[in-house]
Amino acid sequence: MASSNGHSKLGIVRIGSLTCKPLHPTFGAEVEGVDFSKPIPPDVIEDVIAAEDRFGVTVYRNTGLDDLGHVQFSRQLGDLEKVPKFRGPNVPDRFQYPELFDAGNTDLDGKIIQKNSRRWWYNKGNALWHTDSSFNQHRSKYSLLLSHIIPKEGGDTGYADVRQAFRDLPEERKAQLRPLVVKHDLWHSRKLAAPNEYKSVTEHEAAAKPPAYHKLVQIAPDGGETLYIAAHAAEIVGMPKEEGLKLITELIEHCTQPRYTMFVKWKQPGDLVFWDNRQTMHRATPFSDQMEVRDMRRTTVFDDGLEKNGVPEAAGGQR
Ligand SMILES: [Fe+2]
Repeated sequence: MASSNGHSKLGIVRIGSLTCKPLHPTFGAEVEGVDFSKPIPPDVIEDVIAAEDRFGVTVYRNTGLDDLGHVQFSRQLGDLEKVPKFRGPNVPDRFQYPELFDAGNTDLDGKIIQKNSRRWWYNKGNALWHTDSSFNQHRSKYSLLLSHIIPKEGGDTGYADVRQAFRDLPEERKAQLRPLVVKHDLWHSRKLAAPNEYKSVTEHEAAAKPPAYHKLVQIAPDGGETLYIAAHAAEIVGMPKEEGLKLITELIEHCTQPRYTMFVKWKQPGDLVFWDNRQTMHRATPFSDQMEVRDMRRTTVFDDGLEKNGVPEAAGGQR
């Protein structure tokens, strides 16, 4: 397992104006060279995307970004998801911008979310290896998570190099996986993490997030193949449910072996981790969530290249 301190033996990579310090032999880098205090010029954005395509997870330390800066930078990378209102249509938003997803452990008034509340259980699902928004038919390519308050200990974020994990599979196995289509369902991962709490899903919750269908083997930004898999993966289309789940579990276990994973430590407010959901998985790790505040906010950028992979028939041609 690699640490966020990087591998001293891995050489620095220069991409345009950026300096990338690899964090793991196959993916992840800390990137320097972006001035977040003013609008970022288009040529630097191109370098930022090139670094992302190469490393899958890029870490920008001490950016100084606030909510507006976070949203503006994210908009330079594509169209942003608006956060769905899971908790009911009349529950007010915590943030001024509807593009900001609340990935922290506080409520609207900044108080810690109480153990055993619905939202506390909901957050448990984030500790399973997943990729953001695979339960949406129009999936998302990037997530940008910005720290505002970090706990003294714990709360690191783990990442898995799904691209490398697929490429290491035997050719025969790859050929078996290529035709498969997966049903992704947000409520499946909630049930996995909190079976009692999510024994029943409310009508409002179910309507807010119906399942989506995606090809299991996809094309990564570098043109090679990768897996698109997550704890949200509930079934393989055309396969008995149990058999499909067995295969999904086996693939997630393969992708999250220590040689494909690394954990990023949040060092200070303003740290930003930018990851590609199309070629990585990630997971939250524990901290004292009843004692300490962890305030993290995320933007999520829509994938605009879905046509490269094709929309599975099971999705009815819908995006
Ligand atoms: Fe996530």
